[in-house]
Amino acid sequence: MDLGLKGKVAIVTGSAGEGLGRAQAIALASEGAIVAIVDIQPIDQTVSLIESKGGVAKGYACDISKAEQVNEVVKKINADLGPIGILVNNASILTTVGMFTDIPVERWNRDVEVNTMGTANMSRAVWPHMMAGKWGRIIMISSIAGTMGGLGQTSYSTTKASVIGLAKSLALEGARANITANIIAPGVIKSKLAMESLRGDMLERMKQRTPMRRFGEVEEIANTTAFLCSEKASYVTGQVLHVDGGMGLFVF
Ligand SMILES: NC(=O)c1ccc[n+]([C@@H]2O[C@H](COP(=O)([O-])OP(=O)(O)OC[C@H]3O[C@@H](n4cnc5c(N)ncnc54)[C@H](O)[C@@H]3O)[C@@H](O)[C@H]2O)c1
Repeated sequence: MDLGLKGKVAIVTGSAGEGLGRAQAIALASEGAIVAIVDIQPIDQTVSLIESKGGVAKGYACDISKAEQVNEVVKKINADLGPIGILVNNASILTTVGMFTDIPVERWNRDVEVNTMGTANMSRAVWPHMMAGKWGRIIMISSIAGTMGGLGQTSYSTTKASVIGLAKSLALEGARANITANIIAPGVIKSKLAMESLRGDMLERMKQRTPMRRFGEVEEIANTTAFLCSEKASYVTGQVLHVDGGMGLFVF
């Protein structure tokens, strides 16, 4: 099935590491999109990986929490690669796990700066390009922690819920310009980070409360992103799509 992504310029934030971002960048590139890898950490590996598969990608260093850096980078991407049509807001952090009042305010602020404001900064910078082109796809990578809450994850969960409000509002503001904005809420996905940060018995307990009794693969998020970015999803906007093996369902 042709997803209609050939030649579209796509930005994927947080795609330098070995997680969901890289898989989404690879999926979009394999559909023929030209992908800008935006990350705070070195990006060469993802770019080389995409190029080795015959795709087109270029790396851009940027801290998404800094609005000036974001504006500069988006201007550069537009000049280097062409009009931006797709933005995948994947980058985020989880600075502290701890009960509500044990999370210091500085940690709260950093989670909000990166996850909420970073996502807003990126979306604001690409918005005029999408409006001018009368076409756009914005994806927010939220989390089941954003839709269900997360024990010991108040700051992360708050920021992951905030991007749902942002996407729904952008869906409304972009509707008449063919700009869609949707949200993916992953369950537990086998990224390097998730597997290393969840300790032994926690992993097993999480698997047991997932009806499919397994964790998701990064490619299962990437496939969903490719669909939502495609022409095939042209009438889908403002939606939260859980990709969680049924974890958000009522289990007893
Ligand atoms: N892995 C899971 O189980 C899971 C579950 C639910 C949601 N998610 C979400 O999926 C996304 C990816 O998660 P992951 O598991 O691949 O984690 P990850 O840490 O591997 O990916 C996050 C990426 O964001 C980048 N980043 C961090 N701060 C940045 C900044 N200020 N500016 C630019 N880039 C920055 C990091 O360098 C990294 O490449 C996140 O939004 C996360 O909240 C993951």
